[in-house]
Amino acid sequence: MPGLADRDPDARGERGGQAEPRAKHAENQRIATLDQLDAASHAHAEHLEALRFRVFGFDAPHDGANARRQRVQANQLFRGMVNGCHGLCKISFPAGMSISTGGQVDTKIPGWGFSLGSGCFFLVSKTRILENAPVRRTIYFDYNATTPLDPAVRDAMLPYLGAVWGNPSSIHHVGRKARALLDDARDRSAKFLGCKPSEIIFTSGGTESNNLAIFGAARLLKTKGKHIITSAIEHHAVMFCFDFLEKNEGFEVSRLPVDSEGRVSQDDLKRAIRSDTILVSVMAANNEIGTIQPVADLGAFCRERGIIFHTDAVQWFGKEPFENIGRFNADLVSVCAHKFHGQKGTGLLFSKSPLLPVPVLFGGGHENERRAGTENLAGIIGFVEALERFVKPPVFEKKKMNELRAKLTASIEKIEGCEIVSPRENCLTNTISFVVYGADGNAMLAGLDVEGVCASSGSACSAGSLEPSHVIVAIGRGKSAMSLVRFSLGRESSSEETDFVICLLPEVVRRAKLGK
Ligand SMILES: Cc1ncc(COP(=O)(O)O)c(C=O)c1O
Repeated sequence: MPGLADRDPDARGERGGQAEPRAKHAENQRIATLDQLDAASHAHAEHLEALRFRVFGFDAPHDGANARRQRVQANQLFRGMVNGCHGLCKISFPAGMSISTGGQVDTKIPGWGFSLGSGCFFLVSKTRILENAPVRRTIYFDYNATTPLDPAVRDAMLPYLGAVWGNPSSIHHVGRKARALLDDARDRSAKFLGCKPSEIIFTSGGTESNNLAIFGAARLLKTKGKHIITSAIEHHAVMFCFDFLEKNEGFEVSRLPVDSEGRVSQDDLKRAIRSDTILVSVMAANNEIGTIQPVADLGAFCRERGIIFHTDAVQWFGKEPFENIGRFNADLVSVCAHKFHGQKGTGLLFSKSPLLPVPVLFGGGHENERRAGTENLAGIIGFVEALERFVKPPVFEKKKMNELRAKLTASIEKIEGCEIVSPRENCLTNTISFVVYGADGNAMLAGLDVEGVCASSGSACSAGSLEPSHVIVAIGRGKSAMSLVRFSLGRESSSEETDFVICLLPEVVRRAKLGK
């Protein structure tokens, strides 16, 4: 592979004028193409991230329009890099050098790299990079997997990890104090949700709430009927409960199909319902592609027929406007804290009175005998705090999410072989999922991760799985089920971050397709 100096007349100093400073510069700077840096990075594996961070995507061909486009991209990406390094790594140009990209010269941006006017090669000083050891910027686009714990939520929890440590079931004053606080947290949650305190069962999160809702309702009502209905695109925490009931407890399961956007239709529900149907479970919003289901309609439909309706609303809370729990027309609603800046391992199941699901955990009489186990008081307090802070209005600010999403969507659509699979409308505003024909989703994720970008190939719970995404199969794109990429934006996402990702994505796609 010829080096830049062999190929480029500018770098060889044949284009007059600038030859001297460049040549001088080149003494200190290692001149590298992407491939050379790849090789170098293998030799210096410990510095791989720094090297890759610096040079990614600048190996552009030397031809008119394309070169200009690449220069503009280089400029944007360079700014992204500088922003990303801000305060962490001092970058400075040697005298006489400047970044020249697409006619824009910004000498105010100090930098150790620059692109040549004729192309988009970056000169990179390996030594300098190693000296400066820039901390790689993290771009977190995986807010559907989890969100960071908000400092105010953490602060609200802290006393319960220290001074207040009693067991709410103890009858002495230490326990009674914990009990009073637990009762208060339940009252606050009920007030927030618009339900009775007795309708709240605190759990360890979305998975447990779903298990309790489905096993609890099915087992409670099994003498009435053994037909239960769910959709084809539920989270595994719902899907596998239905599978279990079908395989092991004699229930018959109907799985509602979805359209190409992942939406369930009321007509299909109507057709599926039988005289022995006891339970329907359809999620409020899909975690993989963001589809919002018409749960209020489905719930009303079930209620008219006396059928219990459960919705997994884990992805809904904090993303869509919430008025009160009645909006779902559901008897059972699953919620968890870590999707809206609460901590992991806490959630609740709303269970509309008088429904009392059969417990799945047995032991003490906690949670009105619905869920055995000493309550996680700190977690519950944090959960309520996050509910009150981040759900009304949603912490995933719609206007901002819409703008960022539109930008990302438009650029993804321009990349050959990429196709958006998230619905255009009635979709979580933070979620953009796409498939990359001819590439493996995990290779895409690895390529993005090398650049500091955290994304996902669907459900975090099945990340790294070799199984195709059941959601993508259900929407009729089985052939591309292994190539799903999900960006899910959040509170800290910015337009600089989306610009950065927009710049590097074509190259990540190219490499993933080549299997690099
Ligand atoms: C739709 C949905 N349901 C349930 C869960 C499981 O929630 P938890 O992680 O709190 O167990 C998730 C988590 O990603 C989810 O997205």
